[in-house]
Amino acid sequence: MAFDETLTQDVLKHANIVNVVKAFLEVTKKGKNYFAKCPFHDDNNPSLVISEEKQIFRCFVCGTSGNAVTFVRKYLNIPYFDALKKVAELSDYHDPRLEGVVKAKPVDPRRDPLIKCLKDLTLYYEFALNTEEGKIGLKYFEDRHLDAQIREKYHLGYALKDGKATVKFLEQKGHSLKTIEDIGIASIHNGESSDRNQGRVIFPICNADGEVVGFSARRLVESQESKYINSPETYVFNKSSILYNYHIAKEKARSAGYIYITEGFMDVFALGKIGIDAAVATMGTALTKEHIHLLKMLNVEVRLCLDGDLPGQKAMMEISKTLSQAGVNYRIVDNQGSSKDPDEILNQDGPDALRAYLNNLISKVDFTLNFYGKTNPLQTIEQKKGLVKEFIPILLATKSSLELDSYIIKLARATGFEVDSIRNLLGRVRVAEKNSGNADKVIRDYHPERKVLRKLENAEREMLYQMLHKKEAIVFYEEKTDGFYTPMYRHIADFLLNYSQEHEKLVPDEMISSLEESNYDGKDELVSDLTELMMENTHPNHLDDKFLNDLLNTMNDERNKIFNDDMLKSSLEGKDPLEQARILAEFNKRKMKKTGGN
Ligand code: UTP
Ligand code: MN
Repeated sequence: MAFDETLTQDVLKHANIVNVVKAFLEVTKKGKNYFAKCPFHDDNNPSLVISEEKQIFRCFVCGTSGNAVTFVRKYLNIPYFDALKKVAELSDYHDPRLEGVVKAKPVDPRRDPLIKCLKDLTLYYEFALNTEEGKIGLKYFEDRHLDAQIREKYHLGYALKDGKATVKFLEQKGHSLKTIEDIGIASIHNGESSDRNQGRVIFPICNADGEVVGFSARRLVESQESKYINSPETYVFNKSSILYNYHIAKEKARSAGYIYITEGFMDVFALGKIGIDAAVATMGTALTKEHIHLLKMLNVEVRLCLDGDLPGQKAMMEISKTLSQAGVNYRIVDNQGSSKDPDEILNQDGPDALRAYLNNLISKVDFTLNFYGKTNPLQTIEQKKGLVKEFIPILLATKSSLELDSYIIKLARATGFEVDSIRNLLGRVRVAEKNSGNADKVIRDYHPERKVLRKLENAEREMLYQMLHKKEAIVFYEEKTDGFYTPMYRHIADFLLNYSQEHEKLVPDEMISSLEESNYDGKDELVSDLTELMMENTHPNHLDDKFLNDLLNTMNDERNKIFNDDMLKSSLEGKDPLEQARILAEFNKRKMKKTGGN
């Protein structure tokens, strides 16, 4: 369902964002605003601000922001229209335009035959393990310490070398050739179908309900062939929504209070052997939205335990970010310099060693700082500042000064910034928080690499704020200024110009929706900045020409300072080519004015 602006406006008019957020989070009132722990990053203090007056929210740490619909959409990770319905439902608002679009899933006649066929094939593979030929598969499992109990529990099997016989068996069982091809195991040579897993040991892969939906087939010996052959995507096998062993782990996790995420199924078996059944494997892929959803539903601590080698640690960093953004509660198994996977630890060092390894849990903070310190992947100033920004709330929440020192030193090492500059920033944030409760601006203004431009930016920000509330200011901007110098502000201003032409009134939450559903480049960041600006309450509410003219003068003065020969080089530094071209053009224009004008 596409974006319907009037419907969205109607729903928003009937909704109160405070009540909507309250349906999901604990919300407390402080002054004019409401606060909650932000579910979009792992939050220690309530950083999510909800403005009842403006009907928008924003996390001043991670920047996630928007209106009531945005909140529900992001929190539940559901499409726009579903979120709109949910907001309406929470607000007791009924509208025929919201009805009858999403219906319960009917019984699916396309699915049934596939599931049945997969089930028969799983039995066939298990059976084959006990044939004369299957002895090589059995030996493989024995060598890897996968005993009868584990083989039964996970329905491990073997695919006979005669792949055509496998297809015949399924046909005899009453499955059509089409079905056999649709489950993804057939390879076709000279018009004849044959099992592509032939001659390999088989690991069936189940969905969350425990139905087999696909297979992973491992070669028995070292060779050029790929180590595992996985079933392709099929109608029932959606890789992005499968976590290996989830069907068993989900119950165990609820009673244990945690769930381990590993890379491979061999690791899941290793954990199973020492009595930890609350474990799943990503099977070497990234963590998707659907995976997150599966994990969130368990409501337990997630424990990340990917391989100790560099690729494993890198993957863990990525997954860690994904989990943080999704607001999942998790810790990380510290590899302590080892490059093994859990299966190797169990086999080489024994069960006690694996148990100790798995209990070596560290916070995301420690993991991240260790990781960046060791691997140094941060390149641009923006990335480095991003890291510092990310760590501010964590540093603020650190009570022990020893621990704080070690964090700051690690952060300085990872970014190349001075220890003192980070310490200084932290001090300023503390003061700002004490005084106004919002330290965002201080962090935004943290430029360890440059000190100029601050006055200009402030004046532009002030004018932009006025433009959000008063059409006169938009007109003034269009007629009197050269446009903003700060790219983000210029983008927001462009959006506002368009918006004010098409809409009679400037309503904050409606503007957000319109921007979110537009196709502006980088709109997420725009939304975040726009919301932040809307929420600021440090700006004067009365607008007059003198005020705007004063701002304009400041902007012009500061801009002339930038556009002189000495400053030109540093203004261009680190900008993308398009922005550089824009700055150069303005530089020339201003120079002409100066020499030609008076
Ligand atoms: P690993 O290479 O770590 O597998 O990949 P492993 O579990 O240690 O396997 P063994 O011990 O060598 O048998 C982790 C996961 O990535 C997927 C598999 O699901 C594996 O469990 N993978 C790996 C593939 O799908 N294909 C491959 O070729 C390799
Ligand atoms: Mn591995």
